[in-house]
Amino acid sequence: MLTDAQTRALAHQFGTPLWVMDAPTIRQRLASLRAFDTVRYAQKANPNVHLLRLLREGGAKVDAVSRGEALRALAAGFSGGSARAATLAEAADADIVYTADLLDRETLDFVVAEGLVVNCGSIDMLRQLGARAPGHAVWLRLNPGFGHGHSKKTNTGGEHSKHGIWHADLAEALAVIQASGLRLVGLHMHIGSGVDYGHLGQVCGAMVDLVRHVKAAGLDLAAISAGGGLSIPYRDGEPRIDPAHYFGLWDAARREAQELLGHPLHLEIEPGRYLVAEAGALIAEVRAVKRQGSVPFVLVDAGFNELMRPAMYGAHHGMHLVSGDGRALAAAAPAAVAGPLCESGDVFTQGAGGEIELRALPQAAVGDWLVIENTGAYGSSMSSNYNTRPLIAEVLLDGDAVRPIRRRQRVEELLALELSAD
Ligand code: LLP
Repeated sequence: MLTDAQTRALAHQFGTPLWVMDAPTIRQRLASLRAFDTVRYAQKANPNVHLLRLLREGGAKVDAVSRGEALRALAAGFSGGSARAATLAEAADADIVYTADLLDRETLDFVVAEGLVVNCGSIDMLRQLGARAPGHAVWLRLNPGFGHGHSKKTNTGGEHSKHGIWHADLAEALAVIQASGLRLVGLHMHIGSGVDYGHLGQVCGAMVDLVRHVKAAGLDLAAISAGGGLSIPYRDGEPRIDPAHYFGLWDAARREAQELLGHPLHLEIEPGRYLVAEAGALIAEVRAVKRQGSVPFVLVDAGFNELMRPAMYGAHHGMHLVSGDGRALAAAAPAAVAGPLCESGDVFTQGAGGEIELRALPQAAVGDWLVIENTGAYGSSMSSNYNTRPLIAEVLLDGDAVRPIRRRQRVEELLALELSAD
């Protein structure tokens, strides 16, 4: 995505570490899903308000999983109010859907006041919403009893997952909807991040079965959601999802469900990673090079407080080195790449069990740039202030234009939270 010259120029202009996002890549990924009636961006992947605007301009809708994310969506120009729309078809096309397994008290007030359509992952959530706002439009997020993910931590289905209403409890959920006067918009399922086609057949089959149950209970619905979870090839040779094939499988499920219900159904998808992961890179500077016995380490100025995925999941990110002094890079040799944090797990090259992995990299020197690739999803959004490190800047590339979309946080801003606490 980045040429060496761009990397050097960006690092010099904005300093490192630096998040870089590429607008054309995001637009292209969004366009590749246009067969779906709604592409609902799961903003947890990267909620920068400028990216939300870009996606809105491209026709996407948005998902929110916290009051903060919903406020971002509103700030980006998406509208609330659809929970009170006159028809279910309008509610199905809501700009913002609030998805969760519970509503804290403040958020319950908020979704009702803003009229946000709510995707309910627990029956208690339905009861609380129904008691407060009869007539509110809701989706049911169902747990089909199985799940799948690139790591145990990203599997969101099955009995070890807290997510969604258990499939066998659908009848109870529907009874609560009927008793409380809530309006059912649709059924939603998200079983994890990193789908493969094998699982997809099973998911689509489960969705059709659940629609059959809704019909049998005497209720109707306007939409089904395929959830998110579309993977991207993080490693060379990993397969790339074919959006047309993916759509085809879900469209077949939609048709079956339409036949059961006797009317058209809206088909939605809710990707995060697929839309933004490959649009992002993290640029860091090499600040030390050392050898611990037999293991060569390249130490850079970004840590797991910036990019948490390797430490959290053993996630693999491609990386490449750009020479800082213009020298030709030597042939690649294995090395570990680590950050500045005061913690042994602050290593970007590690397996799922935390074991250090060596990566083939040209001999690095202090002042070189390291580009960590495919970090547009769950990179900046999972960053923390660990070791009192301020959040770093983010820029958006759009052809020749470079636009800062987040300035670097200041330590004083962190301290102010504590110094002004009383
Ligand atoms: N919809 C729901 C209800 C979700 O829970 C998620 C992700 C998505 C959509 C979007 O999934 P995606 O298309 O991005 O795979 N931090 C982890 C991923 C956690 C995802 C949680 N939910 C990672 O870095 O891989």
